[in-house]
Amino acid sequence: MTKRHSATIAVRAGIAEDPAFAAVTPPIYLSSTYQLPAFRQAGAYDYSRSNNPTRDILGEALAELEGGAKAIITNTGMSACLLALQLLTPADTLVIPHDCYGGSYRLFTNLAYKKQAFKLIIVNFQQADWVSQLQGATPRMIWLETPSNPLLQITDIASVCQRAQQFGALVVVDNTFLSPVLQQPLALGADIVVHSTTKFINGHSDIIGGAVIAKQQSVADELKWWGNCLGLTAGALDSYLTLRGLRTLPLRLKAQQANTAAVVDFLVKHPLVARVYYPGLADHPGHQVAKAQQAGFGAMCSFELKAPAALLADFFAALRYFTLAQSLGGTESLICHPASMTHASMDAAAQKTAGITDTLIRLSVGIEEVSDLLADLAQALAVVAAALAAQGDE
Ligand SMILES: Cc1ncc(COP(=O)(O)O)c(C=O)c1O
Repeated sequence: MTKRHSATIAVRAGIAEDPAFAAVTPPIYLSSTYQLPAFRQAGAYDYSRSNNPTRDILGEALAELEGGAKAIITNTGMSACLLALQLLTPADTLVIPHDCYGGSYRLFTNLAYKKQAFKLIIVNFQQADWVSQLQGATPRMIWLETPSNPLLQITDIASVCQRAQQFGALVVVDNTFLSPVLQQPLALGADIVVHSTTKFINGHSDIIGGAVIAKQQSVADELKWWGNCLGLTAGALDSYLTLRGLRTLPLRLKAQQANTAAVVDFLVKHPLVARVYYPGLADHPGHQVAKAQQAGFGAMCSFELKAPAALLADFFAALRYFTLAQSLGGTESLICHPASMTHASMDAAAQKTAGITDTLIRLSVGIEEVSDLLADLAQALAVVAAALAAQGDE
């Protein structure tokens, strides 16, 4: 059969396949354990930490969407990252970007420095000569996050994968910010994709979950073994909700991207905005690469407020439709202050290196009516303008 389109894969996952009662939507299997057909005989399922029918439908859909051999569905995005790291030994070198998600950065640095789980090199992939930053080391695994969190920097996946091949290194891409609908790293040469499915894939901010998808069956089998061994796999209810969210992923992304383009256009023109970070902008340094390797520019953007950080509290309090909260990718719009929220686990020096300032603000744009979103930003920025004017009068 020809390759199916993303929307079809997402909608049809497990539909009209129920072997028990021909239910159209797949049922949820909450059972933790399964009866053996007979003594010493294995059935299709035995224990839900190892395998679960509901989780398997989600895994098959995500593996097909990413073009991988298999997906392991985990209970958080962090456990998806932890699972991928099981492929490393203390003798191996992991290379990570200097500007990744704060929680991932905390995991990598603490496993490396406190547990000696692997050697770690932090590089800036924005520099064309990033290989020179390895100082002669031979990496076993290269970790990419593109677009990066929170500055939406773009890394050329295919070009890094070519260099990685020379080292015999595995390339892992955290595809959380785009989802397989907008970017498919395995097709660009990567070996493994990780997701926080908490974000766009589920899309309704009502579960925490993750996924690891491997291109090669042998790598997938090893990851599946570790997932079961460490107990990182997701529960049936979360898998069911994620599957339900997944069905509308392409539609949601279409609406979210259209709203984001309008929000970015508004911010770029606003006098209280010093700089907007969005790969869809022609002057974004990663614009051309993003255009080539992505099927859209995504629904995340960040900006620098041109006002003292002391006025941030007023700005956030004035907003009605951008909720001040961690996370991203849901149908509702969220606003976040990376320095004190998502990236608080990076120390001040690491934040500075990653370009995270105290006036940097990150938006996850939802599917509300766009005119309401623009009006909300306009009135909250007017509050900041009034506070600045009052300070000037003092
Ligand atoms: C890019 C990225 N990767 C991984 C994670 C971790 O995912 P979770 O919060 O589901 O554990 C996050 C969470 O924000 C993220 O933004």
